[in-house]
Amino acid sequence: MELEEIKKKIKEVSEKAEKQLGEIGEEEPEKLERWKVEYLGRKGEINNLFALLPHLASEERKEAGMLINNLKNSLTNVYEERKYTTVKKEKSKVNLSFPGKTPVTGSFHPITLISREISTIFTKMGFGIVTGPEIETDYYNFDALNIPAEHPSKDVWDTFYLSEKEKVLLRTHTSPVQIRVMEKIRPPFRVIAIGKCFRRDDIDATHSPVFHQIEGLMVDKGINFSHLKGVLTYFITEMFGKDVKVKFTPSFFPFTEPSAEVSMSCNICKGKGCPTCHNTGYIEILGCGMVHPQVFRNVGYDTDEFTGFAFGMGIERLAIIKFGITDIRYFFQNDLRVIKQFS
Ligand code: DAH
Repeated sequence: MELEEIKKKIKEVSEKAEKQLGEIGEEEPEKLERWKVEYLGRKGEINNLFALLPHLASEERKEAGMLINNLKNSLTNVYEERKYTTVKKEKSKVNLSFPGKTPVTGSFHPITLISREISTIFTKMGFGIVTGPEIETDYYNFDALNIPAEHPSKDVWDTFYLSEKEKVLLRTHTSPVQIRVMEKIRPPFRVIAIGKCFRRDDIDATHSPVFHQIEGLMVDKGINFSHLKGVLTYFITEMFGKDVKVKFTPSFFPFTEPSAEVSMSCNICKGKGCPTCHNTGYIEILGCGMVHPQVFRNVGYDTDEFTGFAFGMGIERLAIIKFGITDIRYFFQNDLRVIKQFS
């Protein structure tokens, strides 16, 4: 083979490569890769040209080799350049008609939602909001509330004691807040307290060792049971709707006398009877009563001057009824599929 012939071939390859490259669009990176293989690949046109060199005399071989090398370099350069713009084009492909990504915003926990709703209803009736410590003493949690020393709830099997010797415990209800408030202020007042309570219960569908309660207390001259009935009936109908029936049943608590349990008509079966209400048509939701005179004496209130009522209820229970949640554990498992449904 002669030098001229090889030169002609080099020119042909160069022209063909340039022509083909010109036909590749900026959005066709696969075509660009195929072009590279065809010319610069191991069995590509450039290597085919190099394979012709041994047929030449050594002087000519040098010249032809230089020409092929030049072509190889210039093809490599244009390839790199084109690759850069093609890939860049790919990356900046923006479709403005796509729907935007909704930013992730948090939602409130159902217990928080219910607590806020309860607070709103009671503040409308003039109740103030107070708090008390979750770590309590035996005195505030039991004794001051007229709970006798032999009461089973004082047992270590029922209550979490932090120090049995010093009688420090995790409060088992929000009722000790009643005592703390009365030690600080004089009637007339009406307050609610919301917070965590702790009991040594094994966890199941209806029990949790940590749960929430709301406590209410109203003390003034001349407060009687009809005030209690009025306030609680208003609260329940605000919370669950005007059609709900409210029932007061006599009960017992050491810190109230008389005491009552309050039930509302089952909002799942509308009072007809179902598993949730144990076929009674009613669901028990809270305990209440007129403050026991001994409790007033414990805080130094004159029992001839003041009377009052108190009530306490479990927030999880209200949330279960309100949202139709079937298991108390859902509140504490932090399963976002559950939590996200409330906002
Ligand atoms: N503390 C009671 C409990 O945890 C609930 C309760 C009942 C609170 C009657 C009250 C009340 O204030 O008057 O079971």
